[in-house]
Amino acid sequence: MNAAHSADPAELDRSQLHRTAAALVAPGKGVLAADESVATITQRLEALGVESTAETRRRYRELLLGAPRIDSHVSGVILYDETLRQAATDGTPFPELLASRGILAGIKVDTGAKPLAGAPGETVTEGLDGLRERIAEYRDLGASFAKWRAVLSIGPGRPSRPCVVANAHALARYAALCQEGGLVPIVEPEVLMDGDHDLDRCGRVTTTVLRAVFDQLHGAGVDLRAIVLKPSMVLPGSGAEPAEVAAVADATLRCLRDTVPASVPGIAFLSGGQGSRLATEHLHAIASLGPHPWAVTFSYGRALQDDALRTWRGEPANVGTARSVLLRRVRCSGAAALGSYSPAMEAA
Ligand code: 13P
Repeated sequence: MNAAHSADPAELDRSQLHRTAAALVAPGKGVLAADESVATITQRLEALGVESTAETRRRYRELLLGAPRIDSHVSGVILYDETLRQAATDGTPFPELLASRGILAGIKVDTGAKPLAGAPGETVTEGLDGLRERIAEYRDLGASFAKWRAVLSIGPGRPSRPCVVANAHALARYAALCQEGGLVPIVEPEVLMDGDHDLDRCGRVTTTVLRAVFDQLHGAGVDLRAIVLKPSMVLPGSGAEPAEVAAVADATLRCLRDTVPASVPGIAFLSGGQGSRLATEHLHAIASLGPHPWAVTFSYGRALQDDALRTWRGEPANVGTARSVLLRRVRCSGAAALGSYSPAMEAA
């Protein structure tokens, strides 16, 4: 077949998705998750005594998105609906600001974890209704990737099989819709740290969850080369004895090698409430055990933002320092993704 005949629009779209997925996990780069819902960011702002209004949220997000030099370590930023529609103080729409810096704009498209009928204490993530139309609108607004977070908890009898299957099924339907509409789906099944379970239990649960997720992705015809997986690391519960960094890296990789096909271009971990340094050390240890079949990197929310947010505290005079704090975190995380982080970088 000659070149003219092979230029099928569907194929071109597909290869664009492959390029976007690869760009999100490019060497030494990762994703800044800044897609907190209004309710979640309001809690975080109010905890620091900052009033949460559309304008304070806009100013905080401008601090993040406009931080000098983060583009060397950040491939993409996940935004919430409100933020995708906001603009910098000079009027530049946020997606345009990111594009001008070579950073991809992403959008959280799920509408949250809701109680799952028949499974007390468990949730299923919702947001499939009208998703095809929202994806089209988000594309028009400048998004090139999306995210959907499923939440699984560990406890007596949890996660239940119905909870695992319902969440995996929803993730697969979301991923198929994203690819049809031209967005790369970040597939995020989070196994929460809450509880007093040990590392092994978390490993077994995470393995079960990821198997179910890939079963459903296959069943839905999702192109694995055009997704990014965003899992939690394998960790002991927050109420249990902490594990050594090396043990976490080992358990996490054992689980991922057993479950994640090599056709997936990259794995971008969430931080899940680990402190920022620990999240960096864990990623460094995981990357150092490579080479791996897929890229490994970060898609952290709290582990990248917490220090910067505390430094800012809503004060315009603190924007510069807060941006330096953010830059240090993304630089350390980018180095960790290459296995070249050292604690000395924290002082830089
Ligand atoms: P954390 O890194 O704070 O867990 O946030 C990542 C995220 O996107 C949660 O959905």
